[in-house]
Amino acid sequence: MKTVTVELDERSYPIHVSKGLLEKLPEILAQQNGTRSWVIISQSSIMELLGSRLKAAGLHGHEIIVSEGERAKDFDEYRRVISQMMKMGCDRSSTILAVGGGVVGDLAGFVAATFMRGIDCFQIPTTLLAMVDSAIGGKTGVNLPEGKNLVGVFHQPESVFIDPTILESLPREEVVSGLAEVVKYGAIRDRDFLAWLSSELDDLDAFDLESAITRSCAIKAEVVSKDEKERGLRRILNFGHTIGHAVEAHLGYGNIRHGEAVAHGMNCASWISEQMGLLPAADRQFLSDTIAKLSFLPSPTLDPSTILNYVHTDKKTEGGVLNFVVLDGLGNATTSTQVSDKLIVESLATLS
Ligand SMILES: NC(=O)c1ccc[n+]([C@@H]2O[C@H](COP(=O)([O-])OP(=O)(O)OC[C@H]3O[C@@H](n4cnc5c(N)ncnc54)[C@H](O)[C@@H]3O)[C@@H](O)[C@H]2O)c1
Repeated sequence: MKTVTVELDERSYPIHVSKGLLEKLPEILAQQNGTRSWVIISQSSIMELLGSRLKAAGLHGHEIIVSEGERAKDFDEYRRVISQMMKMGCDRSSTILAVGGGVVGDLAGFVAATFMRGIDCFQIPTTLLAMVDSAIGGKTGVNLPEGKNLVGVFHQPESVFIDPTILESLPREEVVSGLAEVVKYGAIRDRDFLAWLSSELDDLDAFDLESAITRSCAIKAEVVSKDEKERGLRRILNFGHTIGHAVEAHLGYGNIRHGEAVAHGMNCASWISEQMGLLPAADRQFLSDTIAKLSFLPSPTLDPSTILNYVHTDKKTEGGVLNFVVLDGLGNATTSTQVSDKLIVESLATLS
C-alpha cells in the first residue's frame, strides 16, 4: 500500500492507495476510529456496484442514498440528508463514509462539516477525478440556483482510501476526463511526471493508473499542505480551470465533461503563457500533444463575450482582479494578474 500524507499539523491525514483496499477497509477503519457508528453516503448506482463488496468485507452502517448526478449537490438534498441522520439517531460520534465521485464527496463532506457543528468524514472516491482531486484538500459544498459550489466550507477528511480496482466499472470517458486532471498535475508541478504520462498515454489499455494516481495525490497533498485555504500557492491547481469552467458554463453543465473543458482551458492557458514569453513554444507543443492523446473532440465554437463574462464572474476573481494561472516553464505554474481579455479571446481561436 502506498501512503501520501496531507501535512496540516493536528489535522494531517493519510491518503492510502492500493488495489483491493476496499476489502481491507473495515479492519483499517476499526484501527483508526474504533467502533463508531458509520453513516455511508452514496448513490444507488454506486452502491449497486460496490455495496456487496463493502458488505462482504464486513462494513456495515446506516446508508443514505442521495440523488444521481449533480442534483445530489442541491441545497434541499443537503437538508434531507441532515434530517435523515437525525431520524437515524446520529450524534457527534457518528462518522461519515463518503462513497462516490466528486458529487457525493462534496455533499457528504459538507454534511460532515456542518452536522452538529462538525463530525468526522472518510472519503472513498470512486471516480478518477475524485481520487486525484475532489476527495483531497477538504473543499466541501453544495450548489445554489445562482451557481455551483457557492455554499461550502473547508473540512478535511480523516483519511482518503483509494482502491484503483473501483475504476474498472467507470465508463472509459469518465476515466479519460479524470486523466485531464492528472496531466494538469504534471504541467503545474512535475515536468518528469508529464513526460512519463505522455508516453503512458500512447497505450491507454496498459496505462499504469495506480502510479499516476499516487503521484497526482502527492502533488495535491504537497500544495494543500502549504496553502490549505487557497490564499496563494493552491491557486495553481486551477490551471486550465478559469477558461475550462467558462466553457462548461457556456455549453451548459452536463453537455461537456469537466476534464474535457479543463483540457481546452489548459490549451488556452499554455498558449497565453507562450504569448507572455513564459513558456517556450516547444514546451507548449509538448503539453498540447500530450492533451491530444486523450482524444477529446475539438471544442464547439465559443462566443468570446460569453466566455469573458463567465471568466470575470469566476471564483478566481478577487476584488475585480483575475488571478490567472500560467506556466512559467513546464512543471512550474504561477498566477498572473496581467492576462488581458484580448489574450483570453485570442486563445479561444487556437481551439478550433
Ligand atoms: N472538492 C473539490 O476540491 C472538487 C474538485 C473538483 C471537482 N469537484 C466536484 O466534483 C463533482 C464532479 O465529480 P465527478 O467527476 O467524480 O462526478 P460524479 O460524482 O457525478 O461521478 C460521475 C458519474 O460516475 C458515476 N460513478 C461514480 N463512480 C463510479 C464507478 N466506480 N463505476 C461506475 N460509475 C461510477 C456516478 O454515479 C456519476 O454518474 C462536481 O460537483 C465538482 O464541483 C470538487
